[in-house]
Amino acid sequence: MIIWGINAKNHDSSLSILKDNELVFAAHSERFSGIKNDSELNEKLIEYALNYGDPDLVVFHENHWMKSLRQLRAGQGFIYNNPKPKLKKFAPNAKYLSQNHHLSHAAAGYFTSNFDEACVLVIDAIGEFETMTIWHAQGSTLTKKYSLKYPNSIGLWYTAMTDRIGLKPNEEEYILMGMAAYGDKNYYHTSIVRDFFKDLHTFETRRNLHKGCKDWMALMKDDDYFHVAAATQFVYERIFNLALVQAQQLVPSKNLVLMGGCALNCSANPMAFDYFDDVWIMPNPGDAGSSLGAILAHTRQHIEFKNCFLGYNIEPKTDLDTVVNELFSYKICGLAQGREEFGPRALGNRSLLADPRGQGMKDKVNKIKQRQEFRPFAPMILEEYIRQYFDICGKPRHHRYMQYTSKCLQPDIFPAIVHADGTSRVQSVPNDGSRVRQLLEKWFLATGCPMLLNTSLNIKGQPLVHDEHDATNFEELHGVKVFV
Ligand SMILES: [Fe+2]
Repeated sequence: MIIWGINAKNHDSSLSILKDNELVFAAHSERFSGIKNDSELNEKLIEYALNYGDPDLVVFHENHWMKSLRQLRAGQGFIYNNPKPKLKKFAPNAKYLSQNHHLSHAAAGYFTSNFDEACVLVIDAIGEFETMTIWHAQGSTLTKKYSLKYPNSIGLWYTAMTDRIGLKPNEEEYILMGMAAYGDKNYYHTSIVRDFFKDLHTFETRRNLHKGCKDWMALMKDDDYFHVAAATQFVYERIFNLALVQAQQLVPSKNLVLMGGCALNCSANPMAFDYFDDVWIMPNPGDAGSSLGAILAHTRQHIEFKNCFLGYNIEPKTDLDTVVNELFSYKICGLAQGREEFGPRALGNRSLLADPRGQGMKDKVNKIKQRQEFRPFAPMILEEYIRQYFDICGKPRHHRYMQYTSKCLQPDIFPAIVHADGTSRVQSVPNDGSRVRQLLEKWFLATGCPMLLNTSLNIKGQPLVHDEHDATNFEELHGVKVFV
């Protein structure tokens, strides 16, 4: 039985394949089209997926008619959201079904976790009508215990604030989160709570934020954007804390599954461990991950989620000793080997790697990536050394997908991977025999340092390097060796 899950006509389209209850493929449309956060399901992606066989069943992650109805009611006019006609051309004999948006999020999280019972908290901008849901998951059942509905939406508000400070909504929320460390929350904290929320405890907003809030504090100067970012992140953390309290009260479980686009807020996520013993965030918790969630909402069975390396494959041509020698000599190189990551983070298969020690490396990598100078990079570390260098929440295994920030214990030695608030978004690399693990082991043997700087192999505003051709282009354009 081959089942395709589809997230399309949304930001960041994706396609996942379950074959006899094994996850065999999952990829983002943007990697195949070259268009960042591509909302259309790219035909090259669909053709590549057919290599795994014709689907018997295609499941969409949301009900597109309900979504169109909500858009109509919200005054956005009629928007045609139906991806089925395009897919019918490639899979004419398959059966087609739709799932609910928040159920797809919840299923993506719970059925990839190793829990047989959990509280599931989903926070995003908006599904068909829902914006936050809490579920009790047990066995193969997901029971909804709470639902917050549009126009009340924490995710929409955070996105509107992203837009307000000149960043790209639905894409650059993580930059707002990073800017927060440079601002003073006290300048705008009170006015944000007053102007946007009726009551933080009920998550009710004062206005529909679908069209942004560009009119808010119209006379504000650009210099204040860092203060707005600080206050926005602070208010989000207050709300997230209240959501965790409500989730724990409604479903008093030891285990939490956290999903939805807001689960990408790695500065706030450590708070989840204040209320739950164990936490699972599926490594692609936003809508792109719901292509898998749509399938799992249908099958209602747990699957083994081994890792994120589920996309297009580049067969490695260069041995890892050569890569380590390059890093040892020139301190920086790109690596595009194996299957590309399913999710927003490069975890070693489409990565720009560098020596994290000493001054100057942050500026050097930021220049290559054409990023804002203030932004630090993330480290990847051999899992058994993580506690020696970082004060982590949870256990080392919780940090395999860069979902939590941790205080760096030796910031002076590793300035390139430490943010202004002293934290790092560390990736813990387990002893699983993966290629990235082998590379780190060789680097450790050569240098005594168990850590590398790891950032996505892309340029600002572009998707990650996808294939051999992209890797060669990156190397030629930026003068950095990229190994395939
Ligand atoms: Fe969503």
